[in-house]
Amino acid sequence: MTAVLVAGGAGFIGAQTCKALSQAGYLPVTLDNLVTGYEAAVKWGPLIKADLRDREAILKAISDHKITSAIHFAAYSLVGESTKNPAKYYDNNVGAATAFASALVEGGVEAIVFSSTAAAYGIPTVTPIPEDHVLAPINPYGGSKIAFEQVLHWMGQAHPLRHTILRYFNAAGADPDGEIGESHDPETHLIPLICQAALGTGKPLTVFGTDYDTKDGTAVRDYIHVVDLAAAHVAAVKRLLDGGSSRIFNVGTGEGVTVKEMLTTAEKVLGRPVPHSYGPRREGDPQSLVADVKRIRAELDWEAKHSDLETLIRTAAAWQANKKY
Ligand SMILES: NC(=O)c1ccc[n+]([C@@H]2O[C@H](COP(=O)([O-])OP(=O)(O)OC[C@H]3O[C@@H](n4cnc5c(N)ncnc54)[C@H](O)[C@@H]3O)[C@@H](O)[C@H]2O)c1
Repeated sequence: MTAVLVAGGAGFIGAQTCKALSQAGYLPVTLDNLVTGYEAAVKWGPLIKADLRDREAILKAISDHKITSAIHFAAYSLVGESTKNPAKYYDNNVGAATAFASALVEGGVEAIVFSSTAAAYGIPTVTPIPEDHVLAPINPYGGSKIAFEQVLHWMGQAHPLRHTILRYFNAAGADPDGEIGESHDPETHLIPLICQAALGTGKPLTVFGTDYDTKDGTAVRDYIHVVDLAAAHVAAVKRLLDGGSSRIFNVGTGEGVTVKEMLTTAEKVLGRPVPHSYGPRREGDPQSLVADVKRIRAELDWEAKHSDLETLIRTAAAWQANKKY
């Protein structure tokens, strides 16, 4: 069985990807310091409790499991926190990540898939946003992600380390089997906040900004189901293991949804009201972020299959109502 080292495999997207890797016949070997992840989310392969900077643990994992490829999810990802503490974000998302990549090179690993983000584009000048759009992040989180993209670029020039960078748009939904799901603290993502408000387990939702130049005045995002995201990672690993060269892909649906549309659909799907109020725009929230997904469809033979609004909301709500961690 081909083993894949999954840094951050105890987190929301990492754990779902471990499940998908296992279903595709790979052994996911998780490396995670559990700073925001959960031991209970690691079910499809071994967990190595270690930091990205733990060179010895990484080299041992590579040798024990004959690792030839890695996926790197392990990062901090709270935009607001990053603006207050940029050093924390650069230290982990660039410094520790670079130490991880160096250990991979030392261990002879030649393929890495990296979780980047639509935050790399900043305020887009074109919608849908193609991968070659200018990179102009408006917060340190986005800055730290493109800094590590550059690290991978230059390490790929110096060493035989090929990369696939996946720039995700808004990850959402939960495992349809209810085994794993999103458990961020604090939770900042729209769909879990909607579900928590509807179920009464969280505060009423605040909709930030009603005066955007969109069809109903609220911000537009591209929501991608975590199962579809996980499938994109499996396809990306396979492509690199087959000898594919370094490449960057957006991962989204290509469809924009406003906050109000999500809210009204959630009320229909859940059959109950979502208590909410309206507030001013949040600083640094772009009006619209929608992916151009032509490249990933053509080159990874990947398509979003679970990202309709009903599936996103239904799976997320089921998880929120019956969280395992
Ligand atoms: N959730 C989204 O909508 C979204 C969108 C775009 C990009 N991303 C990126 O996807 C990745 C995964 O996001 P998520 O929502 O699953 O986050 P998460 O916080 O649930 O998972 C991150 C995991 O990495 C681990 N980790 C962090 N720093 C570490 C370190 N130094 N050493 C070892 N382990 C460490 C955490 O314990 C956690 O298990 C992140 O890199 C994030 O920036 C997420």
